[in-house]
Amino acid sequence: MTSPISIPSRHVPVAHAVSISPTSSTIHERLAIHNPSNVRQPKVLHPIENEDLKLLLLENISQGAVKGFKAQGWQVDHFAKAWSEDELVQKIGNYHAIGIRSKTKITARVIKAASKLLVIGCFCIGTNQVDLDTAGKAGIPVFNSPFSNSRSVAELVISEIIALARQYFERGWEMRQGIWNKQSKGCWEIRGKTLGIIGYGHIGSQLSVLAEAFGMRVLFYDVVNLMPLGSARQTDALSDLLSESDFVTIHVPELPETMKMISGIQLAQMKKGSYLINNARGNVVDIPALINAVKSGHIAGAALDVFPVEPGSNGAPFDDQLNAWASELRTLNNVILTPHIGGSTEEAQRMIGEEVAGSLTRYLNFGATVSAVNFPEVDLRAITAEQGDHVRICHVHVNQPGVLKQVNEVLSPYNVEKQYSDSKGDVAYLMADIADVSPQDVNKLRELISRTSANILTRLLA
Ligand SMILES: NC(=O)c1ccc[n+]([C@@H]2O[C@H](COP(=O)([O-])OP(=O)(O)OC[C@H]3O[C@@H](n4cnc5c(N)ncnc54)[C@H](O)[C@@H]3O)[C@@H](O)[C@H]2O)c1
Repeated sequence: MTSPISIPSRHVPVAHAVSISPTSSTIHERLAIHNPSNVRQPKVLHPIENEDLKLLLLENISQGAVKGFKAQGWQVDHFAKAWSEDELVQKIGNYHAIGIRSKTKITARVIKAASKLLVIGCFCIGTNQVDLDTAGKAGIPVFNSPFSNSRSVAELVISEIIALARQYFERGWEMRQGIWNKQSKGCWEIRGKTLGIIGYGHIGSQLSVLAEAFGMRVLFYDVVNLMPLGSARQTDALSDLLSESDFVTIHVPELPETMKMISGIQLAQMKKGSYLINNARGNVVDIPALINAVKSGHIAGAALDVFPVEPGSNGAPFDDQLNAWASELRTLNNVILTPHIGGSTEEAQRMIGEEVAGSLTRYLNFGATVSAVNFPEVDLRAITAEQGDHVRICHVHVNQPGVLKQVNEVLSPYNVEKQYSDSKGDVAYLMADIADVSPQDVNKLRELISRTSANILTRLLA
């Protein structure tokens, strides 16, 4: 649809190539997909600025994301490798958005050079590689994808439960050495056994459903009271879960209170002959205590995917220099060791690509910051296609008294259809949809709001 306001003339399709449809965020809008005559269609917004958006994608970000951005009409430069800080400082000034994985460091120096940068997408779980505070203060939200690999982790845990119960890592190892050792002693079906899940969040709850489908009884322990899925039961104390479970699996974040939450005392509380699985964070288990418990036979086996210190790259040694007990751990055949592969599947990578691309698209097109890690989370319901003379104001400002008064003074001649603002630390973000704005007024409006004393960044979408 054509806007009365001067905007880039290219047409942007409503159905974006990335899987998220930012135009169908409410239940009514979603229903409209099935019955379009029922509900008003949302309008596709564009930045008022006449400059075309340029995106820089580094570290081989998924082709799906590249295609999705190109379908928006944006210019996309994509490269397989990470860029150094110097290279970024030299070139980032050309770009409105950047997508990275974990190797590219977005430092304060890079952000200072990023004069046009509007948004950063981390196509991965962590965001340590970005100076989040500096980005936030520069008005740049950072998005990531913390939960796209939950299913992959849950499936790995199921495989570990069966592998431990059937001792197939030991048998497989013997076969490779030319030893035939068929036996059933100490091998179990998992049906009817009890799984204890510590931390019933994204991964723990997903795992609960899968385990019940295998006929397991599920207990969980969490600091929050949570609605159990299926027939799972929450225990009041960690010790109850430990003493009743045949398999204990950990899915808590790394926090001061979860450091070494499974140590000698907790291992002793576990049933004799039970198994421990850790796919959460390496520091959550006291590994020397686990080695002792496995050697004594109290713990029948374990699976560890995460370690207090992990090698920085593939091919690097996993040895005693890294973790003092590594060689001793490696001798235990009934402990499955994997190199932090819990979330490493093609599906998880694809979902990460889709989620982060969706967040970047929603921010650039609609100003929505929901799920940003360093920014107030704000969104407004869509402007509809009939509301042709509506303008959306996205105003990032310093979180200080008096800002709304100044902005609302500028907006007072207009009908403010909806407005929402929130703050996080030093940064606040206001979104407002204004009705009946003539093309002549748009630039004036932007200029006046940009001139308010706490302004960090003001964008108008129409
Ligand atoms: N191995 C891998 O590749 C991999 C991949 C993804 C996530 N992870 C890790 O898995 C862990 C869980 O991830 P998630 O996405 O399920 O997290 P989540 O935030 O969705 O869930 C964590 C749960 O732990 C609970 N919790 C917090 N402190 C607790 C405590 N002291 N005792 C009991 N429960 C507590 C929380 O209330 C929450 O329900 C994280 O440490 C994450 O880093 C590992």
